Amino acid sequence: MPHIVTDNCQRCRFTECVDHCPVECFHADDEQLYIDPDVCVDCGACIPVCPVQAIYDVVDMPDDKERWVTINKARSSALPIISTKQDPLPTAEARRAELGF
Ligand code: F3S
Repeated sequence: MPHIVTDNCQRCRFTECVDHCPVECFHADDEQLYIDPDVCVDCGACIPVCPVQAIYDVVDMPDDKERWVTINKARSSALPIISTKQDPLPTAEARRAELGF
């Protein structure tokens, strides 16, 4: 099952995930990243490297995050690929603290 980026990524965009992805499945807007479910190979390498636990395997997705399955599919198809790590957003550390990580 594909992996999904959830709202914990918003105002963070640490992009550690991109550096550990063996395929180019991540897409980005100014706010967060999204995974193309048709490209993701389910390796799981991105999950432990995200500082704010924004990424889930679909089978482990909490019920309150289910809507992100549809959002990832729709947004990834409309946005450019991001394949290299970038600087986090200026709000990233504050958001990380807010999330308790
Ligand atoms: Fe977002 Fe975590 Fe990647 S904050 S950009 S899903 S490392």
